[in-house]
Amino acid sequence: ISRTKIVDLCRSKEFGTIVNVKGWVRTRRGNKQVNFIALNDGSTINNMQIVVDLAQFEEDMLKSITTGACISVNGILTESQGKGQSVEIQAKEIEIYGSADPQTYPLQKKGHSMEFLREIAHLRPRTNTFGAVFRMRHNMAIAIHKFFHDRGFFYFHTPIITASDCEGAGQMFQVTTMNLYDLKKDEKGSINYDNDFFGKQASLTVSGQLEAELAAMALGAVYTFGPTFRAENSNTPRHLAEFWMIEPEVAFNEIGENMQLAEEFIKYCVQWALDNCKDDLQFLNDMFDKGLIERLQSVVATEFKRLTYTEGIKILENAMSSGHNFEFPVYWGVDLAAEHERYLVEEYFKRPVILTDYPKEIKSFYMKQNDDGKTVRAMDVLFPKIGEIIGGSQREENYDKLVTRAKEMGVPDKDIWWYLDTRRFGTAPHSGFGLGFERLLLFVTGMTNIRDVIPFPRTPKNAEF
Ligand code: 4AD
Ligand code: MG
Repeated sequence: ISRTKIVDLCRSKEFGTIVNVKGWVRTRRGNKQVNFIALNDGSTINNMQIVVDLAQFEEDMLKSITTGACISVNGILTESQGKGQSVEIQAKEIEIYGSADPQTYPLQKKGHSMEFLREIAHLRPRTNTFGAVFRMRHNMAIAIHKFFHDRGFFYFHTPIITASDCEGAGQMFQVTTMNLYDLKKDEKGSINYDNDFFGKQASLTVSGQLEAELAAMALGAVYTFGPTFRAENSNTPRHLAEFWMIEPEVAFNEIGENMQLAEEFIKYCVQWALDNCKDDLQFLNDMFDKGLIERLQSVVATEFKRLTYTEGIKILENAMSSGHNFEFPVYWGVDLAAEHERYLVEEYFKRPVILTDYPKEIKSFYMKQNDDGKTVRAMDVLFPKIGEIIGGSQREENYDKLVTRAKEMGVPDKDIWWYLDTRRFGTAPHSGFGLGFERLLLFVTGMTNIRDVIPFPRTPKNAEF
């Protein structure tokens, strides 16, 4: 008989039939006559209860059915009397694929701290929590593709190895085949890459935006969805050195339409989680964050608050003068800190906020400049518990303005001549944004550390697995 997944068996009404399940033992308990094995195969958060009549099995074999062991069971599907489950299996044959020595298997029945589980990232997908999180991660990826596909966007693949620094923040990991000994310096003291693989300095991309813009100027509406890399030395619960980003880019969209797209996009993803991840969400809600499901429902139902950076600064200054203590001072021109963003979202407006028109000095060279000469058409979407979840903008489509701004911000023409060409040949207004996939996952799973929503987190001093 062929194997049936537990997720399907839980819904089955074919009581009395013989079925096969395979999976990993979560627990075994019982008395001298009968044992109950909780078996999980990853297809769902729910375990299958295997009822074992001890008289029918060898004692020695049963001894190696401990937490973590992998077994295959043939048995009769039966309506369950126990609470919390609808079906169980009366075992007829059990085969042990692999035991897991209780003395050394790190995942025992007791709850483990998230810190400990990070140290065993190779095994943590076997816990209920990480099973739920990684199933949700998959589901959100599907939601993202479906959202854009249904709206006629094309999934466009941008390179991971690149020579340009999109954000101009100097946070790029270098890609070289040369060892330190081979990296020769020229008379001026700069490294000569002539003999390196690419013949020039190459890095891991921080964003696919520049290439997505090229694509939008041809295909109209595109999105990227891939890994991006930042060597920012910030050890925070919201930063990874390797994270996944979704970057839509749309020809003819102005900033207002860009905001609309961002809001609809996030709401669609959150609604998708509510509709398609019910069991996992319920588990995470009950285990970690009693307000999780309610928070997701409320975000889908509320209109995001839109205001300018300048208006935001006024609110924060007022808060300061009426006694609110911020660690970092607030003034026009400052790059908002997490505490400022959270004040606006969680205390002042009590809903997601889209902040626009930031000072040009704190934003990237490619953003469209406003007529005031001071601000650019940037937009950040700020979320409760997360802070910045999306960063985006309308792009500067005017060739001269873009070249001037790139110069002012120290972005060399020779690195972006191909990007500038879009503004020389058939330029058009266009806009886009980047959503940090793991920040979205933090929001929908209720996890509080970004290391716990990606299978193998890359952070400073951590590339073990
Ligand atoms: O605001 P950022 O830097 O914007 C860009 O990269 C633009 N090129 C996007 C665009 O307009 N196409 O990053 C976008 C988002 C942030 O809002 C945040 O959610 C996420 O990417 N992000 C990170 N997530 C995890 N770890 C990090 N180190 C992140 N840096 C940014
Ligand atoms: Mg940003």
